[in-house]
Amino acid sequence: MGLRHLLSRRPWRGFNTFRDRDELDAFIEWPLWRIAAEAVLFFAPPRFPRTMMRLPLNQPELTSQPGWSPGPILGIESSCDETAAAVLNREGVVLSNVVSSQVTVHEKFGGVVPELAARAHLGRIDMVVKEALATAQVSKTDLAAVAVTQGPGLAGALLVGVNYAKALSYGLGIPIMGVNHLQGHIASAWLADPAFPLPCIILVVSGGHTHLYRREPDGRCVLLGCTRDDAAGEAFDKGAQMLGLDYPGGPAIDRIARSGDRQAIPFPRFHQAKNSLEFSFSGLKTSLLYRLRDLAVPLRPGQVADLAAGYQEAIVQVLATKAFAALEQSNLSALAVVGGVSANSRLRAVLSERAACKHIRLALPPAGYCTDNAAMIASAGRQLLMRGERPSSDLDISPMEGSMVFNGESCTGFPKRKETAYS
Ligand code: KG4
Ligand code: ZN
Repeated sequence: MGLRHLLSRRPWRGFNTFRDRDELDAFIEWPLWRIAAEAVLFFAPPRFPRTMMRLPLNQPELTSQPGWSPGPILGIESSCDETAAAVLNREGVVLSNVVSSQVTVHEKFGGVVPELAARAHLGRIDMVVKEALATAQVSKTDLAAVAVTQGPGLAGALLVGVNYAKALSYGLGIPIMGVNHLQGHIASAWLADPAFPLPCIILVVSGGHTHLYRREPDGRCVLLGCTRDDAAGEAFDKGAQMLGLDYPGGPAIDRIARSGDRQAIPFPRFHQAKNSLEFSFSGLKTSLLYRLRDLAVPLRPGQVADLAAGYQEAIVQVLATKAFAALEQSNLSALAVVGGVSANSRLRAVLSERAACKHIRLALPPAGYCTDNAAMIASAGRQLLMRGERPSSDLDISPMEGSMVFNGESCTGFPKRKETAYS
């Protein structure tokens, strides 16, 4: 497609200005799409409404379909600093799970830079989706649906995934399903263990969330408790930064803590009232600050390892204690722990040990399903479609927690995430 031809289609008015699927396909393949989208992202807030990139689903047959016949489903995740795509087959088995991490983009800043994250997603998404399809040996025309993270997350980052998914959906004439990122993390428990029972307790521990839910047999999630301030992942990331460790902080603390003595430097553990299922990690951070102030600098490597081990132990013990308290209070015997922090080796060991002692069925997804990935998004989207949910005709991003309806699951809770969570 030449420039003149492309401009005659006026793509800035939306993807629905294309005459047919081939034309849209050609547009998606064209590098100018990326340049145009980059320009939109660059100027987006607040000069251009993001509806410039909005695709009205001109497919009434999709929204009125009574049922969805299962087939391969593509999942796309771009809410923060991982560009990910995955393909599940008609039975929900993961055929591919590709994750392109942006660690090298953000490490020099010690945290995720939203603008850079959006640009990096833009540069990678096409390649990541193609790789996921190739690994799965599924052609895009075989896809029966596309599921995409709608929120919460970084607005610019979400825009890339949602608009890419919309273009695919429109071009291929397949349903698109917006998925709440937390719903994706929760789905990862069943991705790893499809027979995991309900009702159960779910602990979501990630960079932006530390939430305890009770999941009912009908799929409903009821919030039992969450953090009052920092999320567990945030505590890991900020602690690592104070200790001068690499970004991202969670894996860095996990690594160095293995050579440290977790009893050498004790840290306070937030338990508040005996039966409370609330968390708080801001005091822990302050305590690390005071410990560092009292020690002579530069620290010896052994001291850093001891500090990391003690700090990690405080987070791990609080998470495990509250999760098991929730089981006891709800009289349940199944616990799923999901989200990036559930990849932590000490947390996994403590949870496994306590679960074995108390005869609790524990779901701890493999590390690749703990941190952000698209297999969990595809799985959550598939569950929604199987349950009869239909795509909204005007899918849009929902960067803030409170602004998003928890599709079909009537989840209560989900307080607004703090603005600082990803900054
Ligand atoms: O679920 P996730 O990939 O993204 C969000 O939804 O936030 O979680 C990322 C968080 C980061 O804070 C990261 O430091 C933490 O998970 N994390 C870990 C480990 N791997 C990732 N924390 C502790 N130990 C780990 N091994
Ligand atoms: Zn996540």
